[in-house]
Amino acid sequence: MIALERDVAGATAFLQDKTGPRTYELGIILGSGFSNLVDLLDTELIIPYEEIPHFPKTNVIGHSGKLHFGKIGSKSTMIMQGRFHFYEGHPMATLALPVRVMREMGVQILILTNAAGSINEAFVPGDLMIIEDHLNLSFANPLAASDHVKFGVQFPDTSRAYPTELIDIAHETARSLNLTLQQGVYVFTTGPNYETPAEIRMMRKLGGDAVGMSTFPEALTACHAGIKIFGLSMISNYGSGMSDQSLNHDEVVATMENIKHKVSGFFQNFIAKI
Ligand code: HPA
Repeated sequence: MIALERDVAGATAFLQDKTGPRTYELGIILGSGFSNLVDLLDTELIIPYEEIPHFPKTNVIGHSGKLHFGKIGSKSTMIMQGRFHFYEGHPMATLALPVRVMREMGVQILILTNAAGSINEAFVPGDLMIIEDHLNLSFANPLAASDHVKFGVQFPDTSRAYPTELIDIAHETARSLNLTLQQGVYVFTTGPNYETPAEIRMMRKLGGDAVGMSTFPEALTACHAGIKIFGLSMISNYGSGMSDQSLNHDEVVATMENIKHKVSGFFQNFIAKI
């Protein structure tokens, strides 16, 4: 067995020892400011990342680093409260590990959440954007490894990475709640710096609608593993150069605080329908 496969197997065996022979059909990864969504879960078990073999640690404010197991309605669900980022110094392949463990635990649908800056001039802080596709501007790849074929095909098709059936259900859910959801292309940058105004203009020309420093590595890994993805970005700030304000993490956290009840109502209804 080569390294990645052994690490995924080790982490999975540790978790299955705690959960028993259960499968979890739904996975959720909570980004900046989305932590309160764990309240949707009928919690059965919480395991801090540092106890899980081969799991890295998070050290970003607002990312507490725990894996939660339980049910949302009738769905057995595992939630990552806190994620790993390339800008923390983790290699891309490390970012793939938790998603591969989720796959081993039975996850078939993965919900990815994040905070993102706007690129599209019609998107304002506080908006929610369904991710319909992504642009990987890091040109690094979480799948690149000698043994990636252990987790999926050699050359994965990404033309339907964000299935339209889930996007349609999201719009239907939003309509029933009188909630407006934007839809667009998420641009991934490595961070940790926010963009320059010139970079935001470039991203707009390339077809991007929102920009962030997460989600792509997990989305690509899930796509490779045959997991369906639904991604939701909370627009936390105007992209660099689009307003007079300078960018900072406190703004991201403050915007999320204002709309977290809306988001949690949306997910409760959405999850019941998928
Ligand atoms: N740029 C990159 N990542 C982000 C931003 C941004 O403006 N806002 C939240 N995450």
